Amino acid sequence: MLKANHLHFGGDYNPEQWPKEVWAEDIRLMQKAGVNLVSLGIFSWANIERSEGQYDFSWLDEIIEMLHEGGISIDMATATASPPAWLTKKYPEVLPVNFDGVTLVHGGRQAYCAASEVYRTKAAALVEKIAERYAKHPAVVMWHVNNEYGCHAPYCYCDQSKKSFQDWLKKRYASIEDLNSSWGTDFWSQRYYSFDEVPVPSRTPDGTHPNPGQQIDFKRFSSDVTLELFKMERDIIKRYDKVNPVTTNFMSMKFTYAMDYFEWAKEVDFVSTDHYLAQHDPHNYIDLAQQADLTRGFAKGKQWLLMEHSSSAVNWQPRNYAKTPGQEKRNSMSFVARGSQGAMYFQWRQSQAGSERFHSALVPHAGEDTRVYREVSELGALLKAHPDISQYETDRAEIAMVYDYEQFWALMQANMPTEDLSYPETVATWYRSLWESGLRVDFVHPDATAVELSQYKLVLMPMVHMLSDKQEAEFSNYAKQGGNLVVGYFSNISDRTLRVKLGGYGGQLVKELIGVYVEEFYPLRPDQTLKLTNGLEAKLWSELSRLNGAELVASFSGSDVDGSVAIAKRNLGSSTAWYQGTELTLESQKKFFSGIAAELGIKSEGSDHAEVVHRGPYRFEIDHKANTVSITKH
Ligand code: GAL
Ligand code: ZN
Repeated sequence: MLKANHLHFGGDYNPEQWPKEVWAEDIRLMQKAGVNLVSLGIFSWANIERSEGQYDFSWLDEIIEMLHEGGISIDMATATASPPAWLTKKYPEVLPVNFDGVTLVHGGRQAYCAASEVYRTKAAALVEKIAERYAKHPAVVMWHVNNEYGCHAPYCYCDQSKKSFQDWLKKRYASIEDLNSSWGTDFWSQRYYSFDEVPVPSRTPDGTHPNPGQQIDFKRFSSDVTLELFKMERDIIKRYDKVNPVTTNFMSMKFTYAMDYFEWAKEVDFVSTDHYLAQHDPHNYIDLAQQADLTRGFAKGKQWLLMEHSSSAVNWQPRNYAKTPGQEKRNSMSFVARGSQGAMYFQWRQSQAGSERFHSALVPHAGEDTRVYREVSELGALLKAHPDISQYETDRAEIAMVYDYEQFWALMQANMPTEDLSYPETVATWYRSLWESGLRVDFVHPDATAVELSQYKLVLMPMVHMLSDKQEAEFSNYAKQGGNLVVGYFSNISDRTLRVKLGGYGGQLVKELIGVYVEEFYPLRPDQTLKLTNGLEAKLWSELSRLNGAELVASFSGSDVDGSVAIAKRNLGSSTAWYQGTELTLESQKKFFSGIAAELGIKSEGSDHAEVVHRGPYRFEIDHKANTVSITKH
């Protein structure tokens, strides 16, 4: 847990990019802006270990003292995020190999294979030195392991990775026969007689794709093998520092999805995350809110911190639009309202050279007499004025939405009923329809038990494609014991190995509990919309189905499946379960959900452009049209 009784404010600090004269100026400007925390040394490996086993800590010692004297705390990085050139030159097997078998070279960043023994040994040695040296330093208040694991080369197809994947499979499956039956390898002569025959799912002959079970297991393996790296570093730090919390920064699902953060969150002392806006999207504050809520969901009661976001433009989108005046304050405060223990940035001072030289920072190229520096300084003062926000958790929502990286991994595979299915877009549409209706939502993992789910009046299941028998039973029990449930289309189609559940799609949940018998999928054309019999508008998906005990809410019309169930519900005594057998347009999804919320007496606050969030005694109201932020305490 974070110990501070204030909100954190600051960012990544890369003093090695600047001559020492600038350092003193940095401290002055940090103090002026109210910065109280910097993440130090994230990309410093090459500047610390100048050749194999030769460490130079002099510059780091010096800046750490300066920060300490300046009253600025340090989130100490382990510097393992990007191995130096000498390392990969001497040990080329560290370099990752991509899907097409191409070895990725040094010169960008993160050019290492997570399974590499050499990388592990060298990273461990470095962390050992850093932890030993700085663990007791009074300025160090937390540890920042590596950086955005899995951002650039999350899947490696080298020989070492193949060997590690096979070892991982040996632990997961009782026998090779168990693997064969889970993956269904009697298809296309894929049967294996020993684990060392199993390949990594790299490129196969044109028009074919690796086995679905193999593909999803490789994604699970890739998240796990990378998580091992985190745990390795964390455990070294813990030997030297038993006090300060250890974290690693996660990334928002808008751009990355390779690591299963529900699993990762169990291993960190507090969750930290990075979020960057798609600035071309006028509703990007809704994605921001979604990512903040999702991060609170990973944290599951642990504290969490926005570790990076941008003061203005980024440098890696096709067109990097600057933030508009006041936008950044709305962004940061939305994070704080939703539970972040502060607002941190990439980065403190805008780089003069390197590929991120056009990425915004707290101190822009133009210096301190700038809109950006003034606005962030105002924000620093605002956070400083409300230190006790850090003592409260964001209030629990009445609605929970199921989210799961593994569904994402399953649904992004080829050979689906339509390539137009998009798990993140469906989740985002459901989320946005709630946000714009003033309805708050928490995210939960499908491993949630019926008891955990029972804290919510309503649980939403957007495209939860795979459910184990146990998971299915928990959701059913939640509904039978008084919880209200909405199950979306293409849910509960398979078990967790992607074997289809037979006898009507949607398993017991859809067929028995709700009572809709789904027999065939009828995906729609990309530009096709259908008016349902209750006036709502559907797109992308329809299906041939009939009632099997449920009550019809709306059927398809004007389509190939006229009369089939589009929406149905089942009265379960003290609760209701709905089935939504199609993708609704945003406006229709809003109508559907706000109708349900009204029926269940779920409270809404805010409007389609203003969010209201409560965090203990604090009420945050952020209006994205009026460009205002109000924080009141009762
Ligand atoms: C993050 C990364 C930072 C910086 C930033 C730029 O993904 O952690 O180091 O590159 O993006 O937006
Ligand atoms: Zn590899």
